[in-house]
Formats: sequence, C-alpha cells, structure tokens
Amino acid sequence: MIEDGRTAIVDLSYLVASALFIVGLKQLSSPATARRGNQLSILGMAIAIVATFLLPEIEGDNLVLIVVGIVIGTAIGIVPARQVKMTAMPQLVAAFNGMGGITAALVSISEFSQKSEVGRGEGLSIVLGTLIGAVSFTGSAVAFLKLQERISGRPIVFPRQQLYNAGIFAAIGLLGLLVIVLQDGNFARSLLVLLFLASLALGTLLVLPIGGADMPVVIALLNSATGLAAALTGFVLGNQALVIAGALVGASGTLLTMLMAKAMNRSVTNVIFGAFGAIAPGAAGAAGGGEAKPIREISVEDAAVPLAYAQRVIIVPGYGLAVAQAQHAVRELADLLEGRGVDVRYAIHPVAGRMPGHMNVLLAEANVSYDRLYEMERINDDFARTDVALVIGANDVTNPAAREDTASPIYGMPILNVDQAASVIVLKRSMKSGFAGIENELFHNENTSMLFGDAKESIDRLIGAVKAA
Ligand code: TAP
Repeated sequence: MIEDGRTAIVDLSYLVASALFIVGLKQLSSPATARRGNQLSILGMAIAIVATFLLPEIEGDNLVLIVVGIVIGTAIGIVPARQVKMTAMPQLVAAFNGMGGITAALVSISEFSQKSEVGRGEGLSIVLGTLIGAVSFTGSAVAFLKLQERISGRPIVFPRQQLYNAGIFAAIGLLGLLVIVLQDGNFARSLLVLLFLASLALGTLLVLPIGGADMPVVIALLNSATGLAAALTGFVLGNQALVIAGALVGASGTLLTMLMAKAMNRSVTNVIFGAFGAIAPGAAGAAGGGEAKPIREISVEDAAVPLAYAQRVIIVPGYGLAVAQAQHAVRELADLLEGRGVDVRYAIHPVAGRMPGHMNVLLAEANVSYDRLYEMERINDDFARTDVALVIGANDVTNPAAREDTASPIYGMPILNVDQAASVIVLKRSMKSGFAGIENELFHNENTSMLFGDAKESIDRLIGAVKAA
C-alpha cells in the first residue's frame, strides 16, 4: 500500500518534471525567455531526481552510492561550466554530451548483466543504447579534442576509411543480433562488451575525418544520439522521465542539426562524410592570392564620418567579434550612434560564429536590447535601404559567391545581403579567409572599405573618432 502511494508520487512528479522540460524548451526559443526556460528545466530535473529517490528499488547502499556520484559529478561539472569562455562553449557541450553517452551505454550493459532473461524488445533497447551511447562518447571526445586543438582540427583521413567503418558497423550488427537472440548468459554478456568496444572505435573513426569547424554540427548530432540512447535506457529501466527527457534531447538535437545544415546549405551526410576543409589548403591559398585584386583600405577617422552622419546602420557580427571579445565595445559604439539619431540594428545570420545562437548570447552579454537583433530573413531586404553596413569579424556569412558562383563550396548558402548597402565597412585583421577557406568578393567591391586590425581595438578607436566627428 505504502509502496503504491510512493510509486504514484513518483509518477506524478515525473509528469510535472516532463511538463517543465517541455515548457522550458519552448522558452529557450527566444532570447527574452531563455533564462527562465533554463531555470524551469533545472527545476524539472531537480524534481525528477528527488522523485527517483522514492523508488522502492533505491535503498541502503544504492542510495549512498548515488549521492556520492551526484556530489562528485556536480563538483567536476560546476568548475568548467562557470569558467568556460563563450568561444569554448561547443567543447563544453561536447564533454557533457560524451558523459551522457557513456552513462547510457554503461547502464545498458549493467542492466543486461543483472537481468536473468531479457525479452527481445528489451534486448534491442539494450543493444541500441550501448551502441549509440558508446559512439556518442568517443565521437564527443574526438570533437572535444579537435575543438580544444589537442589534435588537428583538419579532417584526418586515411585510405579505405569508409570500408573499415562499414566493416565495424556490420560486426556490431551481427553482435547485436546474437545478444538479442541469446537473451542472457555469460557468452551473451561478453558479446555485448565486444559490441561496446567496437562502438567506441566506430565513434572515434566516424568523427576523425570531420573538419574542426564542422564540430558544432557534429556535436548537435551526437547530442541527439545521446538523447536517443538515454530514452532507450529509460525503456530498459522502466523510467518514464528518462524516456521523455531523452526523447526531447533527441528531437531538439535533430532539429538543431538540420537547422545548422540548412543554414550552411549542406546535407547532414555531407557534414559527416564530406571531409569539408580537407580541400581548404588549396582554397585558402587562392584566398591569399586575392591580394592582387584591389581593395580600399580606410582609416579609423574616415570610417567614423559615414557612421556618424548615417541615418541607418546595420551591424553584422561574426566569429571575429567573438574572438576579439568586442561585444561591449560594439554596444558602446551603437549607443553613441543612437545618441546622434542614427537607427542602429544588428543582422544575425543563423550560423554566424561557431555555434547556434553564438551572436545572440554575445550581444546579450553586453546588454544589447533583443529588439535590435534581427534574424536574416527579417532584415535582408533592408540592406538596400541602409547607409552603412558595419561588418565586424564576419566573412563567409556575407560572401556574395554563395548567391552567384555555382562553383563556390558555399554556393546556395543563404547570406546577409551586405553588399546591397550604400557603403560597407569591414573590420578584420587581414585579407585571410573565414571558416570556408575561400575568398570573399565583398572585400573588393567598390562600395566596400576595409578597416584592418583587431575588432575590439578598431571599435575602441572608432568610438573616439565618432565622438570627435
Ligand atoms: P568566418 O567566415 O569564420 O570569418 C570570421 C572572420 O573573423 C575571419 O575572416 C577573420 O579574419 C576575422 N577575425 C578573427 N579574429 C578577429 C579579430 N580578433 N578581430 C577582427 N576580426 C577577426 O565567420 P562568420 O562570418 O561568422 O561565419 C561563420 C562560419 O562558421 C560559416 O562558414 C559557418 O558555416 C561556419 N559554422 C558555423 C556554425 C554555427 S552553428 N555558428 C557551425 C559550423 C560552422 P582575419 O583573420 O583577417 O581577422
């Protein structure tokens, strides 16, 4: 009777937690409500964890072990989460995601070892949970190492790579089938461990050939894989909260992956198997050769005049703004211009920077008002009616080749129509290319002026010059 009551409380708590996850996720879709969305999801997870302690099977030694695990995990997680720089956020997500993956795999293996007989459906969940969790773990680890530049960010390719991957995948399929058919016993357990080891190898080999700059897409994809693995583990454990939370992570990770791929006009298969960036050295060389074409270099003083006397200015932030940490300076410049009656807005490309929402987060950090930020679709037609487009450390997302040059690797990628503004001022350090490793015709246009230097230093100097104008 008491046990029934406890189970009912747990079920109800899981329901509340799941509702909080869904509302929290919904609120994450707008910068204005994202903070609250995060808080609601944290509350949901706290409720789910506390409720889990009421489950009848959690008692005595288990309880102590779980509490010790939570304390150690929190201590390890809290330090990097507090200290991480915004530009290093993708690797932090990779690290946390990898932990989720290995947990799902180990729980699946442990459940298989403990149960005397495993049904076919449950067997399938265990096999898939182990496979996907392990792939996600080593895949995330490689992504982490690439982003942290502990290993080369370039695609690491070797002959017959896809053949080896296909071989390992086939072996995993065979092992999985045997585990499901055998259902239990020491032999089946050994096969599951073999499957786990092969999956660890597969995760490594799948991510090694992917270029470092594609890692955010890979991480989103692995994130959805971890969600799926967690949901499968939820089936094995009979835990609804885990099934729902896992499914939500899986679905949002998949949507994010598709959104990023679409914004780069690349298919997900091209990201995974295309070794994008392996061709970059040649292309980057071509970009270097672009110095022969004329460009118009401008001084800070000359750049300040059109800005100070403009009616409309659109600021286009990119990865370089994040590198220079120029968000506070940009805001100061925008405030100054607005004080002079200039209409200043920000154009945000969906993949500007190195992770989804990168520019939004940076600008929010500097307290730029959300209503000044415009997504690409909302602002693209306005460039033609704009006096100055101020491009700060953005490159590929402004490259007209994406519209015009069918041979360009970024052909078809939606871009910001910066070149349609009456004048364009580009802040970057050199004529070097961006992530895609290709030349940008925008820099050679007649209405484009280049202001070379670190974005933060250039903007600081621009602030002084606008004040003096
Ligand atoms: P990029 O095309 O990578 O260009 C950034 C530019 O910033 C570089 O050309 C660099 O030129 C400049 N820069 C770097 N440090 C700087 C500094 N301290 N001061 C001033 N300028 C600096 O960036 P983007 O336009 O934001 O485009 C993003 C790229 O990343 C796209 O190709 C996109 O497909 C890719 N990508 C994005 C995502 C997500 S989700 N955001 C995911 C995967 C891939 P200099 O070296 O000359 O200064």
